[in-house]
Amino acid sequence: MASKAKPDLPSAAPVHGARHVAIIMDGNGRWAKKRFLPRLAGHRAGVEAVRRVARAARDLGLECLTLYAFSSENWKRPATEVADLMALLRHFIQSDLDEFHANGVRLRVIGNYRALDASLVDLIEGAMARTAGNSGPVIAIALNYGAQDELVRMAQTLARRVAAGEVTAEEIGIGDVDDALYTAGLPPLDLLIRTSGEQRLSNFMLWQAAYAELYFTDMLWPDFDARALEMALDAFRMRDRRFGGL
Ligand code: IPE
Ligand code: IPE
Ligand code: MG
Repeated sequence: MASKAKPDLPSAAPVHGARHVAIIMDGNGRWAKKRFLPRLAGHRAGVEAVRRVARAARDLGLECLTLYAFSSENWKRPATEVADLMALLRHFIQSDLDEFHANGVRLRVIGNYRALDASLVDLIEGAMARTAGNSGPVIAIALNYGAQDELVRMAQTLARRVAAGEVTAEEIGIGDVDDALYTAGLPPLDLLIRTSGEQRLSNFMLWQAAYAELYFTDMLWPDFDARALEMALDAFRMRDRRFGGL
C-alpha cells in the first residue's frame, strides 16, 4: 500500500537529535529457521522490514539511513542464496523506487556495486540518477560493501592524488579521507544499530563509526519496525556523547 506523500523533512530538528543512523540488518536466517522456513523466507520478510524502517526514518526526520544489505564477505554463502539476495534487491528497487521518488528520498548505493551483474548496475545507477535531485532524506544501501575494501580504495585514491601532485602526503587530512570513502557527502554517523544479538561490526563503516553510538538488540531483523527504531533513538537520546571532551 502506498503511504501518504511526505516530501519534506520536519522543519524543527527532531527531538532525538540523530542525523544519520546505520543498521546492520542481521538475523533473517534465524528468523526463518525458528519458523521451519527456508532462509529465503527470512530474506523476504527482511525486505518488508526495510520498507517499514525506511518509512519510519523519514517520519522521524532522519537525514540519512544506511542499511547494510550485502557485505563483501557474503559471497562466501551458497550461490543459490547469493542469487536469491540479488533477485530480492533487484525486485525491491523496481517495485519501491516510485514511492521513494514520490517522497523525495534520495537513493544511494555504497560499496563496490559496480562488480555486480551489469543489468543490476544499470538499475542502481538509474535509480540513483532519478532521485539525485530530491531534497528529502538519503536511503543508502550498502551493497558488496566492506569497510576494509573502502579503506584500501581510499588509500589508492589519495596515493593517486599525491602522485599527480594535487596534494602532498603531509597535507592529507581527515576531510580528504572522508571525501575518498563511499560515504562521501553523507552526514556523520550518529547511531549504529545491529539486530540479532551479535555484537560485532562485520566490516561495516569502520572509519565512520569512530564516534557513533552503538546499539545492539536481540530482535531479529524481520521483526524490526518503526517502534524498534524509536526505541533505539530513545536510547541514543539518553547517551552522553562526549567526543573526548568533558
Ligand atoms: C542478514 O541476515 C542478511 C544478510 C546478511 C544478507 P542473515 O542471512 O545473516 O541471517 P542469520 O545471521 O543467518 O540469522
Ligand atoms: C553482516 O551480517 C552483513 C549484513 C547484514 C549484510 P553477517 O550475517 O554477514 O555477519 P557475520 O557473518 O555474522 O559476521
Ligand atoms: Mg547473519
